[in-house]
Amino acid sequence: MKVTFLLNGETVEVDTPATQTLLDWLRVECGLTGTKEGCNEGDCGACSVVVTDRDSKRALNACILFMPQLHGKAVRTVEGISAPDGTLHPVQQAMVDHHGSQCGFCTPGFIASMAAGHADGRTDHDNVLAGNLCRCTGYAPIIRAAEAAAQMPVPVWMKEPALPTGPAPFAPDTLDVLAAWYAANPDATVIAGATDVGLWVTKQLRALDNVVFLNRCRDLQQITVTDDTITFGAGVTMVDVHNVLRDHHPSYAEMVRRYGSEQVRSAATIGGNIANGSPIGDNPPALIALGATLHLRHGDATRDITLQDFFVAYGKQDRAPGELVTGVTIPKSAPNLRVYKLSKRFDQDISAVCGAFNITLSDGKVTEAIIAFGGMAGTPQRAGRVEAALVGQPWSEATVKAAMPLFADDYTPMSDMRASADYRMKIAQNMLLRYFADLAGNPVSVLEVQP
Ligand SMILES: Cc1cc2nc3c(=O)[nH]c(=O)nc-3n(C[C@H](O)[C@H](O)[C@H](O)COP(=O)(O)OP(=O)(O)OC[C@H]3O[C@@H](n4cnc5c(N)ncnc54)[C@H](O)[C@@H]3O)c2cc1C
Ligand code: FES
Ligand code: FES
Repeated sequence: MKVTFLLNGETVEVDTPATQTLLDWLRVECGLTGTKEGCNEGDCGACSVVVTDRDSKRALNACILFMPQLHGKAVRTVEGISAPDGTLHPVQQAMVDHHGSQCGFCTPGFIASMAAGHADGRTDHDNVLAGNLCRCTGYAPIIRAAEAAAQMPVPVWMKEPALPTGPAPFAPDTLDVLAAWYAANPDATVIAGATDVGLWVTKQLRALDNVVFLNRCRDLQQITVTDDTITFGAGVTMVDVHNVLRDHHPSYAEMVRRYGSEQVRSAATIGGNIANGSPIGDNPPALIALGATLHLRHGDATRDITLQDFFVAYGKQDRAPGELVTGVTIPKSAPNLRVYKLSKRFDQDISAVCGAFNITLSDGKVTEAIIAFGGMAGTPQRAGRVEAALVGQPWSEATVKAAMPLFADDYTPMSDMRASADYRMKIAQNMLLRYFADLAGNPVSVLEVQP
């Protein structure tokens, strides 16, 4: 595939295999070895680079970024973050001044994340840097460096020249062309953010010959907010989903802040998180609790289904070969929605269990209850018996405690490296109690109860 992009300010044209990663290309073919390989699966941030497209400048993990995804964009590696005459970028100078580096292996990745955050005027350094791991320096000096650099202007050399233009046959610009192509090539692999597909290549060593990329399809990147609803196109990244949710569904947004890392959220799409059918994807429980409608398209034919009906069984979704997920619609307001993610680490971890709760109350009684969990079954699933036990009852601790054992009728969770079956069951039950405390206005987050 012929790909054109800017690399550290210079135009490059590359004929690349579809699933060659940027990291391999940089290190093996360009000799730009400043960008490091740590995990090769999006977890450590050592490979972070700054990528500029038509809309934004973001840090991305080069290890799970395929070369064709770069067409028409600009990449800056650590070699291109300092000025051509060697002048250090303010984040680099601040890392020197504040002793932010010891062995230095993680440092280029930190510099890329810090430079992207700096260009965006970000001051929530913990979020910006949650996807970069350091084994020896400790984070305090690095955060001090980010704080110091935030006062400095963005250097002129970080402004990219005009981005290259030109079509990419492997990445259709419109949904009409994309849907027609996929319907005619139903065996092809659709690649959106590649935060799942990237690992099929780097970890499972799968060869993907026939692929199509969604990242240039503007029709899939729309966010439509009406009086009552919000519709996210399937290609909207989790960073942009988060920005919208903050205003309308703050509890869901707080969960998304802990979804992967800044680099993962900047690549991962909401459509990919649904289409992959994972039982531990973080969006589906929240979306099901909101009564979300999923939009699909096969060639010219479109259809809508409730999201919970999409997840048929483990590894099986209601999606025909060649059919695209095009978007998802949720209500704009749901004041009682709460979403709780439980994982071993606060940041950058897959959920052991993710629970979403949405009840409607009238005169102190429960008139409607939707409770959905990830991590409790082979698919994201509702807790029908618990819901039924709540509806019609007064919303009280006694009602909640009487309903808690019924989770055992709704779910038969499994044991794996994230949690045992017993622990998962206990968590689900306790989350309902937590929800009761939360709606009563009590602090329930570890961030709220710490001094
Ligand atoms: C380090 C790391 C951390 C992660 N943390 C989390 C986390 O905290 N929570 C979480 O839920 N997930 C997490 N993930 C998983 C991953 O980010 C999500 O599942 C992601 O949303 C997938 O979206 P994508 O755009 O990257 O999909 P891709 O990898 O491009 O595709 C995923 C699957 O969906 C299909 N697909 C994509 N878009 C469409 C479409 N529009 N129509 C039809 N099929 C489509 C693809 O063919 C593929 O089968 C993490 C992943 C990594 C690497
Ligand atoms: S090498 Fe660890 S995130 Fe890429
Ligand atoms: S300085 Fe050694 S890993 Fe960060």
